[in-house]
Amino acid sequence: MESARLFALAQEAAKASYSPYSKFRVGAALLCSDGSVFTGANVENRSFGLTICAERSALVAAVSAGKRDFVGIAIATPDADYPVSPCGACRQVLSEFLKPEAPIVFGSSPAKLVEATVGQLLPSDALHELADR
Ligand code: THU
Repeated sequence: MESARLFALAQEAAKASYSPYSKFRVGAALLCSDGSVFTGANVENRSFGLTICAERSALVAAVSAGKRDFVGIAIATPDADYPVSPCGACRQVLSEFLKPEAPIVFGSSPAKLVEATVGQLLPSDALHELADR
C-alpha cells in the first residue's frame, strides 16, 4: 500500500480522537505484512498522564488481534500546521515490533507529508539485541 493511502486512513482514524483537554486530534494507521491495516486515535484522560497516543492505540489493537509483523505506520495530526513526529514513548513502543528500516509517515495534511524510519527517530536503540523484529 502506498503511503498516501495509509495516511488517508490515519486521517480518517483521527476523527475518533478523544481529546477534550488538548483539542489535538491524532490518528494512526499501521500496515501489517499481510496487508491488513489497524488504526488508532489518541485517547485522553482527566488524569492527564494516562493519555494514550494514537500510535500506541493502533499498535495495541493490532497486537491484540494477533498481528506481529508490520511494514510501516502513518500518523495524521490535522490540528497542527506542521508535521508532528511521534513522541518518545511511541518511538520506543513502535520499535518493539517495527524494524529500524520501517517507514513512519507523518503530517498534518497530504500536502505536507514527512517520511522517516523507525531507526532515524530512535537512534542508539537501547536493548535492541533483546528485540525480536
Ligand atoms: N499525541 C499522539 O497521539 N501522538 C503523538 O505522537 C504526539 C501526541 C497526542 C497525545 C495528546 O492526546 C495530544 O496528542 C497532545 O499531546
